[in-house]
Amino acid sequence: MELDSTKVAVVTGAASGIGRALAESFGRAGCKVVLADVQDDPLAETDAALQAQGVETLAIKTDVSKLDQVEALAQQTIERFGGVHVVCNNAGVAAPGDPWMGPLESWEWTMGVNFWGVLYGMRTFLPHIFMSGGGHVVNTASMAGIMPGFSPAYDASKHAVVAITEDLHNTLTAAEMPIGVSCVCPGWVRTGIVESDRNWPSELGELPTSDIGQEITRNHVRRAIDEGMQPGAVADLVLDAIKEDRFWVFPHPDFLELAVERFHRVGESLNPDPPEQVPGMPPRSTIAAEVMTAMAQEAAEVATDPN
Ligand SMILES: NC(=O)c1ccc[n+]([C@@H]2O[C@H](COP(=O)([O-])OP(=O)(O)OC[C@H]3O[C@@H](n4cnc5c(N)ncnc54)[C@H](O)[C@@H]3O)[C@@H](O)[C@H]2O)c1
Repeated sequence: MELDSTKVAVVTGAASGIGRALAESFGRAGCKVVLADVQDDPLAETDAALQAQGVETLAIKTDVSKLDQVEALAQQTIERFGGVHVVCNNAGVAAPGDPWMGPLESWEWTMGVNFWGVLYGMRTFLPHIFMSGGGHVVNTASMAGIMPGFSPAYDASKHAVVAITEDLHNTLTAAEMPIGVSCVCPGWVRTGIVESDRNWPSELGELPTSDIGQEITRNHVRRAIDEGMQPGAVADLVLDAIKEDRFWVFPHPDFLELAVERFHRVGESLNPDPPEQVPGMPPRSTIAAEVMTAMAQEAAEVATDPN
């Protein structure tokens, strides 16, 4: 589809990272842009920056894990602009906490934003996009949606997003609906995702703590993300996919190779064998050795000073 001044694009998680870059790219293409995010100040700042560039915007504080708020977002979009053509279900979080022994709230939050938030966005906006004459649905998944190994709750939420995005594409294609669908699966992108804790909802209780192993991994991930792709480059690929009606957006071919290797093993019914090294990260054995050393140090400190 064409992206121009007749089009309205909604972006969730628009106040930072990939979402902000998407909003800026839609603005440059001439679209009217609806910005949705749970964070007040960054949302207002992003809104002001786009308006300063001459983009017609509407900013609405929205928690995508709450259906009534996503419905209100759609309602206000229609009231203001009279229609909607693109929805980017992009908001996402990476939660702290041990996946197997820690609090279940980590899973609830991750699934609430990353899965339910995307599903609410799809179901709520689809009829409006149809009534507006057609358009495009963009869901931000991750390479964690194609191959596990990042963090169990995050992997589960992103696998679910990939699955429902593909299902939606197939349904709309079979029904010959004028609505395209794209699934965005990045590797490392330079954003604030490692600092997701900033949005931990107080209604879920105390922020779960991370153990030393998770802290070490998180530091490596933080560095990989700091050295990752610019969000603007991902946004460019997404806009190209919308214009060319392409489903998959894979900004990181090196990650994709690993995913294909995994599927070869699946095809041969072989047991999982995670790659020794993921792009941007030290070898798995190096991280494991760092964790063992840190745990031994912790144990020695407790032994010498049990108080
Ligand atoms: N950065 C990466 O390396 C990477 C890789 C793969 C996929 N992704 C995905 O990209 C998407 C965007 O994340 P990002 O990397 O730009 O991170 P980011 O933290 O910079 O941006 C995420 C935005 O979502 C908002 N948000 C969080 N919870 C929300 C909620 N409940 N409702 C509405 N908004 C909410 C945040 O306030 C923030 O503005 C996420 O779905 C993430 O999982 C990121």
